[in-house]
Amino acid sequence: MAEAAWAAIHLQNITKSFPGVLANDRVSLALRSGEVHALLGENGAGKTTLMNILYGLYRADAGEIWVKGRKVNIRSPRHALSLGIGMVHQHFKLVLPHTVAENVALGLSGTPFWAPTRAVARRLGDLSDRYGLPVDPDRRVWDLSAGEQQRVEILKALIRGAEVLVLDEPTSVLTPHEVGELLKVLGRMKAEGHAIVFISHKLDEVLEAADWVTVMRRGQVVGTVRAEETDKAALARMMVGREVVFRLTKKACTPGEAALVAEDLHVRSDRGSLALKGISLALCRGEILGVAGVAGNGQRELVEVLTGLRRAERGRVQVLGQDLTRASARRLSDSGVAHIPEERIRMGIVPGLSVEENLILKRHHRPPFCRGGILRLAAARRFAGQAIEEYRIQTPSARTPAKLLSGGNIQKLILARELSGSPALVIAAHPTYGLDVGATEQIRELLLRQRDAGAGILLVSEDLEEIMELADRIAVLFRGEIMGVVPAGEASLEEIGLMMAGERRAAAAAGGGR
Ligand SMILES: Nc1ncnc2c1ncn2[C@@H]1O[C@H](COP(=O)(O)OP(=O)(O)OP(=O)(O)O)[C@@H](O)[C@H]1O
Ligand SMILES: [Mg+2]
Repeated sequence: MAEAAWAAIHLQNITKSFPGVLANDRVSLALRSGEVHALLGENGAGKTTLMNILYGLYRADAGEIWVKGRKVNIRSPRHALSLGIGMVHQHFKLVLPHTVAENVALGLSGTPFWAPTRAVARRLGDLSDRYGLPVDPDRRVWDLSAGEQQRVEILKALIRGAEVLVLDEPTSVLTPHEVGELLKVLGRMKAEGHAIVFISHKLDEVLEAADWVTVMRRGQVVGTVRAEETDKAALARMMVGREVVFRLTKKACTPGEAALVAEDLHVRSDRGSLALKGISLALCRGEILGVAGVAGNGQRELVEVLTGLRRAERGRVQVLGQDLTRASARRLSDSGVAHIPEERIRMGIVPGLSVEENLILKRHHRPPFCRGGILRLAAARRFAGQAIEEYRIQTPSARTPAKLLSGGNIQKLILARELSGSPALVIAAHPTYGLDVGATEQIRELLLRQRDAGAGILLVSEDLEEIMELADRIAVLFRGEIMGVVPAGEASLEEIGLMMAGERRAAAAAGGGR
């Protein structure tokens, strides 16, 4: 029998437009059981839209979907699940105050009316063992790390009988170790006969995990290739239509006056425990200080205390020689501190406001956008137009609500707002999170240019490669303390790795020197 007949799912000539955008233009894709199919493409290329159609969230304007040889008209996610199609979204949709078991039980058919969560906990246990997805059914979701929440989302789909599982950028929220674990889980799902769609901007992962790679550009399929018959450079070229440089050229840094001095910072986490236990840092203008570490070792609290979103219990923060220890977020922003937050939807934008309004969000009360208490619309428009162009934000218009942009374009919007005012100090958490290879290259270059123009940049990231490439010095956080600070030129991956696991610098250097 022809190979195509075995395809679990066939998408044929799917077309979907939104006001001002052709998001999918006659897209065809075949998904087979026991295979991982990666979807690659620039920000706004139409990946999420296509999968939302398969999952019944959007209706295609034209085209057909075939499931196991039957043409179907998928009306809702519930319908998609009944056809064996599950999806884990780019931004999770769990109910935070509920426990894991309650979240999984929600709307699940076949659970007993009496003590539903107990039955679910049992089924969850079986599935976690089978696929290697450890979770504690009694923990509350707000208490879980991003990686743990993702495991719950995957289990939620599996328990509902998903044979086809769509994972939309599952790795962008994970630590490198968790990425490795997830790729193993994908392997097990393959072996069990699932078909998996894997959306990612990280070419190495795609090449490692996928059997097939489909590249999209501007709503169309550029091509589908076998992973083993392609490489990074070829995929990047297919994606952006030009060569992409993976190595930046970085000039030596010339540190200026102090941009940030933090002394003896003690900060508590949401749970009340000490997340930062007396850390001290100094960062000059014209310098990038990388903060490496496994997520959950105090990075979030560090970023929040430096941007006025969290109170320091003890210690001092000086920005450009000014004591701003307990200053508000607004005051810090007005003093020239830019903030690229970790959670872009919750903290980076006001989803219902337009792209333009989001772009001037922090400066609408200052000139040139405000004079004599009056908002200068023309100035705001001009600024927004320039930012959209410079940062290549894909949006039908400046007045489109920010929440309608693709994930990567929301990130570009935040970067444009924060970086365009020539800030003196940039506190950046995962700045290239969710960006495609071309945009990542553009933002990394931009950060280097801002450094050369005299900005001090604190770069918090779990992406060691990014830190090694951009930072002038690297500090490693472990359980709320700094294990050491290393000049980037002298840092070895091994030494940083040892410090990330809790060895202090002297010991790590000795261990790494063998
Ligand atoms: N509900 C919607 N209303 C209007 N436009 C939308 C909607 N959803 C998506 N779009 C637009 O469709 C296009 C494709 O978006 P999509 O989210 O599919 O991109 P993507 O490939 O997933 O990008 P990213 O890598 O940034 O996540 C974008 O221009 C986006 O703004
Ligand atoms: Mg997307």
